Amino acid sequence: MLVSPSILAADFCNLGADIEKINNSEADLLHLDVMDGIFVPNISFGFPVIQSVAAVSKKPLDVHLMIVEPEKWIGKVRDTGAAIMNFHQEACSHLYSTVAQIHDAGMKAAITLCPATPVDTLRDIIADLDMVLLMSVEPGFGGQKFIMHTLDKVRELRELINESGSKALIEIDGGVNAETGPMLAEAGADIVVAGSYVFKSPDPNEAVGFLKSL
Ligand code: DX5
Ligand code: ZN
Repeated sequence: MLVSPSILAADFCNLGADIEKINNSEADLLHLDVMDGIFVPNISFGFPVIQSVAAVSKKPLDVHLMIVEPEKWIGKVRDTGAAIMNFHQEACSHLYSTVAQIHDAGMKAAITLCPATPVDTLRDIIADLDMVLLMSVEPGFGGQKFIMHTLDKVRELRELINESGSKALIEIDGGVNAETGPMLAEAGADIVVAGSYVFKSPDPNEAVGFLKSL
């Protein structure tokens, strides 16, 4: 399993030290949750923070935009050096052109679905995607309970990917821990995002190592 720790659960007064823990772990990516208070009922952090994180992260950045009109921010995301730009299907009217612009900017493109958005809505664009991010909680907050129906969505998405010949990876975000991680591995997920499970753990390195081993 690939692992993308989310700094939303990190200690923002000691962010450098927390990122250093991830640098020294087996994590594959570093997940950054941007919220605008409009698409989701919370505000997290923006580009100045991502720039500072990018300067010290040894892991490629997996930027998750929970914002309206994500297409307006592609250039700003690219300027942080991010490897992957995730944007929400529910927040964007023109998926094709947004994905194309993300690719033109040199990033991998991922579409994110909220828990109640059907996987099948991606049928006509799946071939163009590098990754699909399935939310296993409502976006906006860390530390929520994993929605079990996500496991069915992972299996359905795997079928859609296989049928279409897409190379998209399946990433899951929300409530990932020692109990739900193994279930996701069994269902066929490729990448898990983990905030609380990693950063609230007494040993983040071990928490990442456990998820990696799945
Ligand atoms: C929620 C964010 C998640 C969050 C996950 O809107 O997208 O990335 O950090 O937090 P945990 O792992 O604590 O559920
Ligand atoms: Zn996220």
